[in-house]
Amino acid sequence: MDKEPTFFDFAAEVGLTKHLGGLGATEELIELCHIGEGKYVLDVGCGAGVTPCFIAKRYGCRVVGVDISEGMIERSKERAKREGVADRVEFRVADAQDLPFEDDLFDAVITESVTAFPEDKQRAVNEYARVTKPGGYIGLNESTWLKVPPPPEVVAWASQEVGASVKPLTSDAWAGLLEGAALREVIVRTYEINTQNEARGVLRRYGCRGMLGVLGRILSLYARSPAYRRFVKEVREGGLTPENLDEYFGYGLYVGRK
Ligand SMILES: C[S@@+](CC[C@H](N)C(=O)[O-])C[C@H]1O[C@@H](n2cnc3c(N)ncnc32)[C@H](O)[C@@H]1O
Repeated sequence: MDKEPTFFDFAAEVGLTKHLGGLGATEELIELCHIGEGKYVLDVGCGAGVTPCFIAKRYGCRVVGVDISEGMIERSKERAKREGVADRVEFRVADAQDLPFEDDLFDAVITESVTAFPEDKQRAVNEYARVTKPGGYIGLNESTWLKVPPPPEVVAWASQEVGASVKPLTSDAWAGLLEGAALREVIVRTYEINTQNEARGVLRRYGCRGMLGVLGRILSLYARSPAYRRFVKEVREGGLTPENLDEYFGYGLYVGRK
């Protein structure tokens, strides 16, 4: 019997992935990682390819995007062609915990809402550090417990809301992973979630036309896939957002230098 599709299979199908803080958080991470013209950048867990294309277009960098999902890599390649940056952006399937690159290759390695997923997070961060040039930067945007311990309803909501069993860490634990990879000059910035800004952030990242395309693909998937209809039902039944969510659940930018 075929395996039940996962949240990320659906996200790849509709071509929509996101991270907390939207494009504004990407711009901040880019600045903290000193990404600019002429830099060679790796985006691990690139999803639908929005950030690699944005960096290539806006900053004139050469960018590699990797993702564990083949579907995401297909969407990313389509995006790069559509946005006219296919000559500067390359995509390939790879696991964050085992990157297929030589040591000391990239000026900066970034991940946005990715490192929360691998089984062995330290191994993933060690890999980011290994493929970064000495003096280069590693930047993470990851979901974060702002206050611990989070109550059970918040833990339940966090994993159900993203539909991908995300397991946030505290900011100390995220910073500890960077330090564990022998990175220095570690910067930590944590943020609460603002629901309106999040919605605006997605719109800004994909644009009105892009969002219409996504909506069309969601409706088409809903119409033809019983598995997707089951998934939507399960997410709906997951319950309302807990009132105290913002107190506990947010995101952080974590940057270190090799
Ligand atoms: C929440 S999405 C974020 C995607 C993208 N960074 C963005 O901001 O739109 C998480 C992505 O991480 C990818 N992912 C999960 N585990 C991974 C791993 N071990 N190695 C590489 N990518 C992974 C998923 O396939 C998915 O595309």
